[in-house]
Amino acid sequence: MTDKELRVSKIRSGTVIDHVRAGQALNVLSMLGIDGSSGEEISVGMNVPSDALARKDVVKVEGRELSQDELDVLSVIAPDATVNIVRDYDVVEKNRVERPDRVTGVLACPNRNCITTADEPVESAFAVLRDGVRCEYCETIVREDIASLIDG
Ligand code: CTP
Ligand code: ZN
Repeated sequence: MTDKELRVSKIRSGTVIDHVRAGQALNVLSMLGIDGSSGEEISVGMNVPSDALARKDVVKVEGRELSQDELDVLSVIAPDATVNIVRDYDVVEKNRVERPDRVTGVLACPNRNCITTADEPVESAFAVLRDGVRCEYCETIVREDIASLIDG
């Protein structure tokens, strides 16, 4: 790869979330609860040219190996994402994100009357459908712009 092509530096060790749907990189970070406030080294590439997709986003987290479970929640906003674990500059593990059966805690129900949005100690829980998510408490289904539900 030439200097001209390299947009985001390689990392030494950590996690590379690749093939993220263009435009979703910041949503990926907020869904993971990563905002840079604890000093971690984060690199984000947006609208980077890709072979498979016309454009993609890439998120690189230095010094942290995120778990597959932690990353599977991303499948609702970045279904084609690839998770690469990097050690000493080498990719030692590569996995696709997989749709989990349910997603708890990271999305907020858009129904204002839902028990999860009231002042109760109830964690949000959504069943993951083929084409959206359904609140397990009030049955509200969201199919479009699931990223707007991210509880940040
Ligand atoms: N990467 C990185 N730092 C490293 C090694 C890899 O940031 N030390 C990044 C690469 O830039 C790429 C991703 O991790 O975005 C996957 O690396 P690699 O498997 O080498 O690339 P490809 O073969 O192109 O991956 P794929 O087949 O998944 O497209
Ligand atoms: Zn609800």
